[in-house]
Order: sequence, then structure tokens, then C-alpha cells
Amino acid sequence: MNAVNDISSTNKNEINAPWKKQEMQSVETKVNALIEQMTLAEKIGQLNMQDGTGEHAVAYLAMSIRNGSLGSILNQTNVETINELQRIALEESRLKIPLLIARDVIHGFKTVMPIPLGQAASWNPELVKQGAVIAATEAASTGINWTFAPMVDISRDPRWGRIAESLGEDPYLAGELGAAMVKGFQGENLSDKNSIAACVKHFVGYGAAEGGRDYSATNIPDNEMHNVYLRPFKAAVDAGAETLMASFSDIDGVPATANDYLLTDVLRDEWKFDGTVVSDWNAVGELEDHGIADGEKSAALLASVAGIDMEMAGKCFSGHLEDLVTSGQLSTEKLDQMVANVLRTKLRLGLFDNPYTNPSDYPGIAYPEALKVAKESAVQSLVLLKNDNDTLPLSNNIASLAVIGPLADAPYEQLGTWIFDGDATFSVTALNGIQSFVGDSTKVNYCKALANSRSESTEAFDDALQVAKASDAVILCLGEESILSGEAHCRADIDLPGAQVELVKTLHAAGKPIILVVLAGRSITLGNVVDYCDAILFAWHPGTMGGAAIADVVFGKVSPSGKLPVTFPSVVGQVPMYYNHKNTGRPPSKEKVILMDEIEEFAPQTSLGMTAFYLDAGYKPLFAFGHGLSYGEFEYSQLQLSASKIAPREELTVTVNLKNTGACQAEEVVQLYTRDLVGSVTRPVKELKGFKRIALGPNEETTVTFKLTASDLAFYNRKGKWGAEPGKFHLWVGGSSLADLCAEFELTE
Ligand code: NOJ
Repeated sequence: MNAVNDISSTNKNEINAPWKKQEMQSVETKVNALIEQMTLAEKIGQLNMQDGTGEHAVAYLAMSIRNGSLGSILNQTNVETINELQRIALEESRLKIPLLIARDVIHGFKTVMPIPLGQAASWNPELVKQGAVIAATEAASTGINWTFAPMVDISRDPRWGRIAESLGEDPYLAGELGAAMVKGFQGENLSDKNSIAACVKHFVGYGAAEGGRDYSATNIPDNEMHNVYLRPFKAAVDAGAETLMASFSDIDGVPATANDYLLTDVLRDEWKFDGTVVSDWNAVGELEDHGIADGEKSAALLASVAGIDMEMAGKCFSGHLEDLVTSGQLSTEKLDQMVANVLRTKLRLGLFDNPYTNPSDYPGIAYPEALKVAKESAVQSLVLLKNDNDTLPLSNNIASLAVIGPLADAPYEQLGTWIFDGDATFSVTALNGIQSFVGDSTKVNYCKALANSRSESTEAFDDALQVAKASDAVILCLGEESILSGEAHCRADIDLPGAQVELVKTLHAAGKPIILVVLAGRSITLGNVVDYCDAILFAWHPGTMGGAAIADVVFGKVSPSGKLPVTFPSVVGQVPMYYNHKNTGRPPSKEKVILMDEIEEFAPQTSLGMTAFYLDAGYKPLFAFGHGLSYGEFEYSQLQLSASKIAPREELTVTVNLKNTGACQAEEVVQLYTRDLVGSVTRPVKELKGFKRIALGPNEETTVTFKLTASDLAFYNRKGKWGAEPGKFHLWVGGSSLADLCAEFELTE
């Protein structure tokens, strides 16, 4: 196959496409004109996406493109091959319809940002957007025009490996950040050369997989579906997401791929989404495995009628839609709508005008701006969970420092899951970052201690202990390799794996300050190590520039400012544990909870309390949603509301004074929560309604302002309607979901 050598010579006037001959103004006119000219087979071809890798595959794809039976490919990243396939589509197929070229560009392309869960810890939509701009720019330079991101599945179960890809447990935070990613990928205009189409996934509820086992069934009541799981999707669709992917999973008996209520009633009819809906990989065929379709043909009918436009990597649509239409089981009108959705996406991407990519139009890979954003993103994703006696920041003058652990110098592992194209040669590890930060002034003593995070061998622990003893402080980099999270990579036990817990305890005996840096794709249950560490910095999988970011924070060049986007349980048995839970009729509190180890002797009738808690783990998480320490000290005061009552059309202004009484310049994520005290359905004990990142120097103070209206207080109510209900609300502002500065207001009729 010959690559297109001079793509600049292929300009739009030379393409003799039927749709060009008419003077078509709007996308809709073009879509309709195209559909009018299409044969049934050509229409079905537009709904077919196949894997674009492998030598033979490429020749086969070329043939399919030529005869109009293939409209999209995924996973091809060679720009010359992509240009050639586009040329075949534009010059050798009858209707000259360009191709969608898809890829999972999840948290960066060659330059890797922190995993999405880490980016969520930044609580910084603008920074998240910049990360997506970099990813889109690098990916677009190879001809990719569609990414399967962002994933906005609400995730309350860290056993689920794909929590790494999520934006956390809160629908508002995930919605804001998901919308920011959509805007970053798609740019000002989808047809710009740096823009690629976003695909919001997995519609919907995929993160509620039973037991945190990937692909397992989900059972989501209507109330939860609307108030929790659908919300971030709505935010991403409102931000202009061009495409959406259906989830693999069963939702209360109807798999997402066949779920007409969600795909059509909610998505199309209510939300007016008019882009493309793609199935997940082979998910149409899997309707048979779910036991809802009797064979491929029945699966194709169920999925297409429900609202899937394009089948990814399966043969149900390409093999059976023709039969279904000619037999009248699937109407031509429905088929045309599916085709129209796909053509609309191609037109909006500007592919008909120019489907070709000239890499020299792009800044290349891992270019300075890309690395700068990757570093800033990593810095703001770091969450300081614990910092006893101001262990951190370390002084630059520290004479010696032990850097220990299997994740301290693991350039590939720190990139995290879903980095098909990520280039570990650009990675700065924690060891690299620390060494270059301190230069020759500090002696850095490195010891890996364990071959990898899963290793049970304690052979090297003595050496590690000696290294710790010979140093003034210990930076202990533990966690999980990238393979321990991600799709189908779930864990039943989410403690630090292998002998890592024992390593923490061994090194504690050295009597030196222990700074635990955790690199992981999920929240880790740290209940068994927390007391052995002086400080804990949670780094997630921090991406290309992770080590440079860790060094800057450890030595205080910049204050940590990340906040947890998920609750950290103490032990796995507490899962699911999330801050915005319901109160129950018997809420626990300090006074109402007696733990079993607090009772010396049990009499048969001993009552340990009649509230919602565990005898052995209480009711609190180890670290709460929104928690994250700083080198600054933030004092919140003077919480004021502009009124004690607001009418549905009025706005409530909330102000609070924020002062940095510490000695360091620092950034704080100010969080606003409310509680609707009485509703027609029970309401969560707290709900995030706003957040702002504020930078303050030592002794600086400022007034932080939020605005709330009735629409911010709306929810899906008993009657299945979206709206706010009159009544009293509590409101808190502070630095985590444990904020206790509280006020009350009322929403009137
Ligand atoms: C399956 C995953 O669930 C989905 O997220 C991904 O985009 C596709 N495979 C394509 O790789």
C-alpha cells in the first residue's frame, strides 16, 4: 500500500464527490442529500467499525472501504496508513465518504497526564481541559479524529479496576471535569485540525458493577440512575460531546446496548443528543451472552431499535441489518436516522473538506507545552493525606535521603492504565525527580526492596532497613503497577499488595521519618499502614512528569493542593463507602457507636448500638471525600448568605472568608455542600454544589463567593420529575466533605 506522499495536493476541489455537486449549506441538508444517494449496503457500511491493525487487516479494510462497507476503524495509528485509507475512501469509493479513525486516548497520547482519577483530584476543570487539548493535538497529528473518552462513570467501588479511568464518586465533580475534557478534546470547533471528537462513556451505570467486578450486572434504581449516574453524562452532552458509547453491562435486566429507555427516551428525546452512539467492543453480539437476544440477528435488531448507531468490532450490523430492513423488521426510517447520526459527526469534524493529516502541521510529541501541562496536572493531582509534625516539606538541605520501593523508579508503571501510545522514555520517575531536585547537595540512597508490588519476598528488607537507617528520612514509593487497575483488572483486596505492608512496618523500625508515596490506580485501603507513616502523599498513577511533580511537592517548591475525588475506606469490607450517602433511619454518630474491641466482656444481651456501622470498622472512612492537606493553613470564617429565604427564580449568594494563616504560598480547593432536609424522596446527607481553587500567600485572605439557584438544588423526585422542592436546606463551606461551617436557608414555593 502506498502512502499519500503529497497530501497538500489533495484539495477539496479535486474531490468529485456527489455531495459536493449540490450547493449544500447546512449539515442537515448535506446529510439528507447523502442518504438519498446511498444504497442499503452503503448505509450499513457507515454503521460498521472494525479494528484497523495488522498487515492483512489493512488490505482487507482497504477493500471494504472501497466497496463502501466500512465507515470507521479503530486502533490504527500510522499516519501514512491512515492517510492512504482516507484517500481510498475519498477517491475510490462511490460516495467518497471519509472515515472516522478512533482510538482510546484516555489520559494523554505520547505525553501522559495522570490517570483520570488523579486528574479529578486536581478539582481543576481548566487544567483537565488543557490535558485533553494536549492529548487531542498529539493524537490528531497521527490522523486520529475520535477518542473514546471521557469516561464519566460514577464509581463508588475501588475494587473496580476502571475506577482509575473515572472522575470519581461525585456526579457534580465528574460532570464538571467530564465537560472540561469534552471541551479540551473538541476545541473551539470540531473541524479544527487539533480537535478530535469526544466519546462520553459508558452510558450508563457501568461503574456500579456488582462487587466491583468488571462487566458484572448493575442494579440501579430509577432514583439513583437519574440523581447520580446520568448526571455527569448530561453535563458532558451539554458541553457538546459529539459521540457517546453504551456500556457493556446489564442494567436491571436490560443491558445498556439494548436499553431503549436510556438510549432513546432519555438521550435522544429528553436531552436532544444528535451525535453518534457507538456500542462497546462486540457488545451487540454479547446481547446473546446476556440472554436477551436469540442469535446475532436478534441482537442487531435489539441494539439498533434501542438506539445504537454503530457497532464496534462485531458482525451483527454488517451481517444482518440488510435482512432486517428488507424484511421490514427494522424500518428504513430508523436505519436512516442511524446513518444520519454518523454522517453528522463526520461532517462536523470537517472530514469531508479535508480528511488528511500532515504531521508537520503539529508541534510533535512530548513538546515543551505538553510536558509543562503534564507536570502541572501531576502536581495538582497529588493529595497529601497525612502530615504529622509537618514532616513535609523536607528541607533542601537534608544531608541524606532514602528512596525505597518498587514504584520509585518504574517509568512505565507510573503512566497507569490505558496508555496504548504512552511513551515511557519521557517519564520522570520519583527517583529521577528527587535526584535532579537535590543535585549533589543531598546523598540519595536508593533501594528497590521488592522486585515489584506483588512480590512476597522479604529478602531485601534488611538492606532496605540499613539504607533507611543511614539516611535522614525515607521516601517510600509503594502502590500498584499499572496492570493492577484498568479494564477487567479488578481486585478483591485493595490493601497494598505483596509484602509492601510488611516493608512499611520494617522501615518504621529505623526510627526515621517515613514519607509514604502511593502510586496506584485506585484508592488503596491504608488502614494497616497509616500509623507507621509520618506523612502520606497519594500520587495515583501520575503520568509522564509524575516524579518531577513529587519532588516539587516533597521539597516544598509548591504546596500540595489535590483533594480526594473518592472516599478512602480503611478496610475493603466498608465498600461501597461514599460521602453523599443517605442518612438512614438510624444514622450512626460517635455516641451511638461502640466498637467490639471497646467491650471487655460480652454478656449475651450486650448491645453495641443500633445504628448503621460495622462492629470492627465503625462508620467513618479513613480519609473523606474532598480531603487533602496543604503546607498553607486555611481558616474559614464569616460564612454569610445573601438571604435566609429564596424564591425559585432568585439567586442565593454565599460568601466566606478564607485566610492562609500558614507560612507558605498555597492553593486551596474551597468546597460548597448542601443538604435538602426534607424531600419527596430521601436526599443525601451532603451534596457537592460548587468548588473553587484559590491561591493565597502567607497571611493573605480573600472572600470566596458562590451563587446558588433553585436549579442547583433540583433532583429527580418521587413523581419522576426533575426540579427543586421547597423547604429548608443546610449549607456548608470548607476544605473537605467534613466541612462544619454551616448555615441554613429556605427555598420558598
Ligand atoms: C472496551 C472498553 O470498554 C472501551 O472503554 C474502549 O473504548 C473499547 N474497548 C475500545 O478499545
